[in-house]
Amino acid sequence: MTTTGEGASMDGEKAARLERMAEEVRNLEASPLFAYRKENGYQPVFGEGDPDADLMLIGEAPGAQEAQTGRPFVGRAGRVLDALLESIDIQREDVYITNVVKDRPPGNRDPRAEEIQAYAPFLLRQIEVIEPRVIATLGRFAAAFVIGEYDLPRRSRRMGDLHGQVLEAHLPYGEVQVVPLYHPAAAFYNPDLEDVLQEDVQVLERVLAGGSR
Ligand code: URA
Repeated sequence: MTTTGEGASMDGEKAARLERMAEEVRNLEASPLFAYRKENGYQPVFGEGDPDADLMLIGEAPGAQEAQTGRPFVGRAGRVLDALLESIDIQREDVYITNVVKDRPPGNRDPRAEEIQAYAPFLLRQIEVIEPRVIATLGRFAAAFVIGEYDLPRRSRRMGDLHGQVLEAHLPYGEVQVVPLYHPAAAFYNPDLEDVLQEDVQVLERVLAGGSR
């Protein structure tokens, strides 16, 4: 993050815009998950990290620990994610982490179309403010969202084919490389995916370093 000169005020402005958006999400009574949030004393999970990050990570939806703390990826999947990032020398503070859906779906079920739709404008605005050079999607919901929104060319919708690919997105602020990854929690159910995730973050590392695959 830039901490001096013009960059600092730029970061401050981005942070302020993100904070205003987070406040909108806190008050989003129209969300199908608002009542469930309130009944359970949960918090929305807007996102956190460097507002000027080169890399933005997009997960699916908060789990219980995330909804209790208001922070993304702080539970078991978060520990896998942190280790993956550390393996390519990236600290959480250097990236921006968020989710497609900003409130916890009951019982960790898959997010529904109307829930994804309710939070979509916020995620798209987060991307516009942060202007990441690289987006890594975590899991099939985030991959489907980004691919669909930006109309990205892809040969398949299946994570088995998409993971570790580098997709080119033309956003209004510039070119963005999108790297779909398996969701870190997928490794709990299928330990073979640990190695796959590890290989795919190497792709991410190369993309961030400015090379291709
Ligand atoms: N899984 C997600 O997709 N997001 C989180 O924030 C935590 C777990």
